[in-house]
This record gives sequence, C-alpha cells and structure tokens, in this order.
Amino acid sequence: SALEAAALPLFFGWFLAHKHALELEKRSREFLKTLSQLDQFKQHISQFTSEELGSQGEVDLEKHFQSRGVLHCTTKFCDFGKADGAKAYAEKEVVRESMGCVTVLQISAFFATPRTVGARVALTEEQLRLWPPDAEKEVMPDVDLPLGSRAHVTLGCAEGVEGVQTGIDLLEFAKLEKEGSGDKVQDLGDGTLYSYGNDMWMLRLSRNVEAPAMFSGFYG
Ligand code: A2P
Repeated sequence: SALEAAALPLFFGWFLAHKHALELEKRSREFLKTLSQLDQFKQHISQFTSEELGSQGEVDLEKHFQSRGVLHCTTKFCDFGKADGAKAYAEKEVVRESMGCVTVLQISAFFATPRTVGARVALTEEQLRLWPPDAEKEVMPDVDLPLGSRAHVTLGCAEGVEGVQTGIDLLEFAKLEKEGSGDKVQDLGDGTLYSYGNDMWMLRLSRNVEAPAMFSGFYG
C-alpha cells in the first residue's frame, strides 16, 4: 500500500551512540594525522590528492575528507522503497524485531583511499542476521567474499564522492586481502598499518574499538 511504501526509510542501519561516535571520530582524526606524517605516505601523496602541501610535504587529510552526518553502519539502502529488495528487507521478521535494539559494533580497522575514509566493522553472527545476503555480490559479483565484508562506518568522503563509495572501497581492500596482496608498512602502537598499492591504506587495530549502536531506519 501507499502507506507501507511511505514508511520505507532511506536506509536501515546501526546508529552509534553519541559518545562513541565522538570517540570514533577522534580515533579517525588520529589515524589520518599519523598517515599524513608518514614518509611512505608522503612519497605517494600525488596519488592521493593534488591539494597544496605544507612545508614538511604533508597534507591536511582532515580537510580532504568531509564528514557525512550521524555515524552509522548501513545494513540496507532502501532509497524510500526504490532500491531493489527494500520492501522485502523491511518486512523481514528479524528487521522488525530488531528495531530500537542496541548492539555493540566491533571496529577492527580504519582505512583511507583518495575517495573515502572509513572504519571496518566485524559483524557478529547475530548482527549478520540483519545483513542483506547480496550486499557484497551487488558490488563484486565475481569475487567470493565472506558475508559482511562490506560492513563499515563512513567517516568522511572527498569532495564530489558519493556515500556508497566507502563500502565499495572496503570491498576492494577485501578483494586485495583475499589475493594476498598488501604490504606491512609499520606498527603504529594501536595497530599495524598496511598499504595496498600506495593509494589504499589500512590500519588493522590490535584491539577492536567497541561502539554501542542502535538498529533503526533513517528517513532523512
Ligand atoms: P555509507 O553506508 O557508505 O555511509 P546518501 O547520503 O548518499 O543518500 O546515503 C545515505 C546512506 O546510505 C549512507 O550511509 C550511504 O553510504 C548509504 N548508501 C547510499 N547509497 C547506497 C547504495 N547504493 N548501497 C548501499 N548503501 C548506500
């Protein structure tokens, strides 16, 4: 019915509790700052941005990326019902039952590309029940990746980049990981930094950041 269609959100997802969103943003800023000061990163800076460099050859990555509103991990993008499978997803029992429920998201890594900066979310078995089975295949139909490989929190996008890009970038990391590429750059105290071809960087955390988050729909 029209009423049902009207009730479909822009997307479903887990929304971080405010305090934990601030904490994650702080960790993200620290990650970008550390990255921007690294010699190996600076050597390939032109692959990352054409922005003006500082006197030390560094770039302000915090300015390169703009934040995108309230921090969340999208499960299903519905586009108010226009997206494939939106209605079926909204009607699933597990989706209806989970509305308003709080869960703890496990953040296992931060990543940055010229397009996006984000946090990788390692979903639990229970959280995976809310994950659309085709989320990965939709972007990478020819690569066999574990369910949930696309799960992330967008922390920022470069100018002109669409929100959907962060998950696409994370799947590219996952594909490269599966192929066994990626070079260890160095230990950074809170984790180990890897580079995947000079313009893709990932900090794998030695301890997950835990972020309580509430499952809900976002109506814009
Ligand atoms: P993300 O989950 O990476 O942050 P927008 O602001 O562009 O309308 O997007 C709203 C939210 O839905 C954002 O969180 C965005 O990306 C996500 N999103 C946008 N388009 C898609 C899509 N085609 N598939 C999955 N998620 C999407």
